[in-house]
Amino acid sequence: MANLLLTLLLLLTPISQALPSPPKSNPDPTCLSPASIQTGSIYTGLEPNTPGIRPGLSNSTTSSNNFINFCSAHPEKPPLTNGRQLTTGSCNGIPMGRIPSSDNMISSLIVFPSSSSSSRSPEAAIIPALRTFNVTILVRGLSAGVLVNPSSNYYSAPQDLDARTDSREGSEVLDPRDFVFFKGVDDAGVEVLQTGSKGDVTAVAVRELRAEVSGGLPAGRYRVCSMVAAANHQPVVMPVAQRGAQDDCVRFVVGGAN
Ligand SMILES: *[C@@H]1O[C@H](CO)[C@@H](O)[C@H](O)[C@H]1NC(C)=O
Ligand SMILES: *[C@@H]1O[C@H](CO)[C@@H](O)[C@H](O)[C@H]1NC(C)=O
Repeated sequence: MANLLLTLLLLLTPISQALPSPPKSNPDPTCLSPASIQTGSIYTGLEPNTPGIRPGLSNSTTSSNNFINFCSAHPEKPPLTNGRQLTTGSCNGIPMGRIPSSDNMISSLIVFPSSSSSSRSPEAAIIPALRTFNVTILVRGLSAGVLVNPSSNYYSAPQDLDARTDSREGSEVLDPRDFVFFKGVDDAGVEVLQTGSKGDVTAVAVRELRAEVSGGLPAGRYRVCSMVAAANHQPVVMPVAQRGAQDDCVRFVVGGAN
């Protein structure tokens, strides 16, 4: 049986078309403050003597106004995302927002289903068919329990940080549209103590989150992944490229299928 994709994060709901009028009587200014201009965007990155320049790199597109009108000026005239989950494609002009320090990067570990109880075995975990189970994930660096309306506020505000923190396996490429279970984990879970590799209890706060797979799954082979997101559903934007992944996936077997 083909692997099925079992993602974990938010529930797709129908997109509402008629929006209420905006609540603000004094709208925010619509011009770009000079203090907001990111001069790094003026450069392609391939100008002579640019740090990090090497063969194989591409030119970046450039802007002297933070791409403020990127969407409306785009030759393909894409519709604005405007808080909606537009399956036919769209353009989002909301800033990316705040990026955490590398000390506060997100990291996830799926602890159930697990590859096996003896951690080095390549065998997948076996779950009885059609029996309810919890997907249990440990997450550090995440202030969990904040999720805005996915129908009206999808990518509609920048990624932000809480006050405290600002501180190839398998041969088949799975179709990300093909999944059997999807759950937005919108509660804060419980804090747990993490034991480090040397048996020490680290000072890092780790939260345990659960998503119950009610009724269980038909027999088969599955993959379950975490997809950590900002409150406005953006994939989390991390401060450095070279890091451990913020998400985790495990493969498991339901009902002893082969
Ligand atoms: C980058 O843009 C410059 C200026 O247009 C051009 O001379 C150069 O060939 C471009 N480099 C690449 C890798 O496309
Ligand atoms: C899943 O976890 C929730 C929250 O801890 C708990 O209430 C529920 O009983 C668990 N379900 C199973 C099947 O263990």
